[in-house]
Order: sequence, then structure tokens, then C-alpha cells
Amino acid sequence: MARSETATVRSALDEAAAALAASDIPSPSLDAEVLLAHILGWNRARLFARPEYGLSKEQRQRFQAALSRRRDHEPVAYIVGVREFFGLEFFIDRRVLIPRPETELLVERVLEAATASRHRLGEAATASRHVLGEAATASRHRLGGTATAGRITLADVGTGSGVVAVSLTVSLPEARVYATDVSSPALEVAALNCQRHGVADRVHLLAGDLLEPVPEPVDIIAANLPYIPAPDLATLAPDVTQYEPLLALDGGPDGLAQISRFLEQAGRWLLPGGVAVLEIGAGQGVQVTDLARRWFPAARIDLFLDYAGLDRVVRIMTPGA
Ligand SMILES: C[S@@+](CC[C@H](N)C(=O)[O-])C[C@H]1O[C@@H](n2cnc3c(N)ncnc32)[C@H](O)[C@@H]1O
Repeated sequence: MARSETATVRSALDEAAAALAASDIPSPSLDAEVLLAHILGWNRARLFARPEYGLSKEQRQRFQAALSRRRDHEPVAYIVGVREFFGLEFFIDRRVLIPRPETELLVERVLEAATASRHRLGEAATASRHVLGEAATASRHRLGGTATAGRITLADVGTGSGVVAVSLTVSLPEARVYATDVSSPALEVAALNCQRHGVADRVHLLAGDLLEPVPEPVDIIAANLPYIPAPDLATLAPDVTQYEPLLALDGGPDGLAQISRFLEQAGRWLLPGGVAVLEIGAGQGVQVTDLARRWFPAARIDLFLDYAGLDRVVRIMTPGA
């Protein structure tokens, strides 16, 4: 953009969009608008309301620097440092995957399951927690919490930036959530997002493999684990492969390495009548529902499509006590 000494919003955007298009950025005008709005501290609508606003030298320089990063295919979310998800704004950087809109479907299915669970929680849930015995009680004490009748517990496996755990906790004021990730840098970002949304006291961030760090069985498990087949990684856009963490994308040779390990474990971490909800890759519906049936033969298993009509979420509803 804007090598000129003076620039208005309109001229800066025109030059920026042309420069981004020349670098094969797929949505050059939109990206230029988002970056300039971020630098000015405006929303995008204001750009169009004030096209003749003159940029200061410092604003021009910052815009130039942001455009240069975008021309190198760095995703806009990493440049501006935030991303909206489920109506909330989250802090994002290269330690975490950029949350995708389709993951909101996972959150919606979990919230539905939580509403259903609320009705059957209470004495039954208390009784089943007692079955866990002393080990689980000791773990709860270590965490400084106590299982309370009627208080729903959830696990978010592969929490990354924490978008799923935080969205659920904000939506369910009575819930307690265990959020796990193998990536300690990702958990640092999740911690910032828990603080940002005032839920740090109800989201327990735990480092480790899949459900292993979760100290007690829970009512609902949400999991958005990596599911891209390793051979497909090379075909992804450079925005993804050069910037997003491989650990968040690589699902092993067939894409299902983590999901199948998760399904094998999940039964041990679900209370009777518990529900597991997983995000999956487009086209993985048959394989994942087959795997789920193998480990949960008595459960009701449903596949949900996303708005593009692609396989996206599998829900496993286990029988009650
Ligand atoms: C697809 S990202 C999802 C991040 C976030 N939940 C979201 O929806 O935006 C997958 C996450 O799972 C984590 N992960 C990968 N393997 C894992 C494992 N074995 N146990 C726990 N987390 C894992 C990655 O570090 C990454 O943060």
C-alpha cells in the first residue's frame, strides 16, 4: 500500500487491496479493511462512513507493516491478535489454532446436551460420583473443588485457545470445566482467555494427553482434536501450513490417530448417561461413527453436518444409570 506521503482511508484501502491481490491473497479487500480498522481502532462500517479521513504517519506505517505480514500469508487473526467465536472475542497468536466458525456447531451440540443433563442431574449424579471412590475424591480436593449435586461437569479435550471451554463456561454459569491440551504454550493462551472472560475460577486448565489429566468422570466431553490426514497437510494453504501449529492439525496417517485414541479412552471418563461430542473432518463421518459404535455399543450415536453439508460433529449419548 500507500507509499504516498498522505493517504485517506479510501486511497489506503485501494492500494492495499491491489497489493494483497498481487500476492495472491484470496480476500484482498476484506483483509485490507479488517487490518486498517484494527489499526484505527474502528469497526469496518466506520471505514465506509469516513473514506476521506487522513491517516497519520504512524497509522500509515503500522498499516504498511501489517500488510507486509499479510502479503507473506500470515493469517489476519494472528496479525490483529483477536478472533471472534460464539459471540465472544478471544486473544489469538501463533501458539494456537485459529478457531474456525464450524466449531460453533460443536459448542451448540454440547449446550443442548447440557440442557438435557441439567434435568437428570441431582441425586443420581451425586450417587454415581460416590461410586468413583477415594481416588476421585482425593483428586477433587487437590483441585480445591467439590462435586455438587446439580452442578454439571465438562471436559474440553484439545482446548487450544480455550474457545470451546470458555464459550461453554460463559453459557453455563453452573458448570465446571476441565480443559486439556498437550501443548503448554497453547494452555498459556487459554489461560489469558479464561481471565479475559472471567471464568478462570471454573475452567481447570490441565496439561497432558487427551483425557489423562482429568481427575474425575464428567457429564459431557467436548473434543476438537487434530483430524487432518498427514498426507493432506502439504495441500493446505500456506496461511495454515506456515503459521498454525502442526500439533493442532496433524491427525496422523488417516487423520483419525487422536480421535480413535480418544474414543477408546472416553468411556472411562463419562458418568452414566454422559455425552461425548466430537468435531470431525469432512468425510470422516462413517469411519468415526463406526469407531464410536465399537467403543460405545449401547449408545445412541448421531452425525451432524455443517452449513456446507459436510460431516462435522459426532455425538455419543451413553445410556443412563
Ligand atoms: C484442532 S485444535 C482445536 C483447538 C480448539 N479447541 C479450537 O476448537 O479452536 C486441536 C488441539 O488439540 C491439541 N492436541 C493435539 N493432540 C493432543 C492430545 N493427544 N491430547 C490433548 N490435546 C491434544 C492441540 O495442541 C490443539 O490445541
